[in-house]
Amino acid sequence: RTVYVNGEYLPEHEAKVSIFDRGFLMADGVYEVTSVLGGKLIDFEGHAKRLARSLSELEIRKPMEDEALLEIHRELVARNDIDEGMIYLQITRGAPNDRDFVFPPEETAPTVVLFTQSKPGLADSPAAKEGIKVISIPDIRWGRRDIKTVQLLYPSMGKMMARAAGADDAWMVEEGAVTEGTSNNAYIVKGNTIITRQLSHEILHGITRAAVLRFAREAQMQVEERAFTIEEAQQADEAFITSASTFVMPVVEIDGAQVGQGAPGPVANRLREIYIEESR
Ligand code: PDD
Repeated sequence: RTVYVNGEYLPEHEAKVSIFDRGFLMADGVYEVTSVLGGKLIDFEGHAKRLARSLSELEIRKPMEDEALLEIHRELVARNDIDEGMIYLQITRGAPNDRDFVFPPEETAPTVVLFTQSKPGLADSPAAKEGIKVISIPDIRWGRRDIKTVQLLYPSMGKMMARAAGADDAWMVEEGAVTEGTSNNAYIVKGNTIITRQLSHEILHGITRAAVLRFAREAQMQVEERAFTIEEAQQADEAFITSASTFVMPVVEIDGAQVGQGAPGPVANRLREIYIEESR
């Protein structure tokens, strides 16, 4: 694989980052995952916008213009011959020459890393035909989940808790309501209405979420942006998640309780179809 690190395209084993990098020592960095379908980037503009916002909220210098970022994305897709998959981008506050809680001097260059992940069959995923199982876990993450930071230890542990329980993923619950999945936004469906938590500091503002809600409205579905409980989700007609790496993925079981018929429902299936169709 050819990767990008701080201005250079290199074979992955030659790419290096300092041991003093703020991303490594303090999880002081942000990331984006942009999917590729048919060699084409999905929603680059949305990801670039959210990235700029994450950087600005953390006062990390934006290292380059969006056009330059787009160029690197395209170059990596071409060099690695990516048809279906993802591009991972990470920008950290850079590498000063020691560990310090105080931010490094202004002139410290942010670290920029990008690499591709080839996922043949991403659009035609068998999981989407069967649906996935989720468990609920308490949401104990920090209070600025709208910033896409690389502090992913708890989501990673959540995924392992799901695995241990024989499930695929975890939905996180705070004050009795679902916030989101470990790496995706959460939805339920009641009749013709799609319900998903409203945007706030409590959840990541998914780029896939924005696209899917737009397609849902265009298809005359009703959209309600509000919080919901695990009990309401278990009794809903359908449930699903969205993210750049899963698109629209049906959820068929929550904490051991079957959702609807226990199989992917028509709304999730239709939204997945529309999303993939529109992204090709
Ligand atoms: N995760 N919520 C969380 C906590 C996420 O980590 C993600 C994305 C989403 C969905 O956002 P989007 O639709 O823009 O991908 C929601 C990425 C895919 C990841 O961590 O790999």
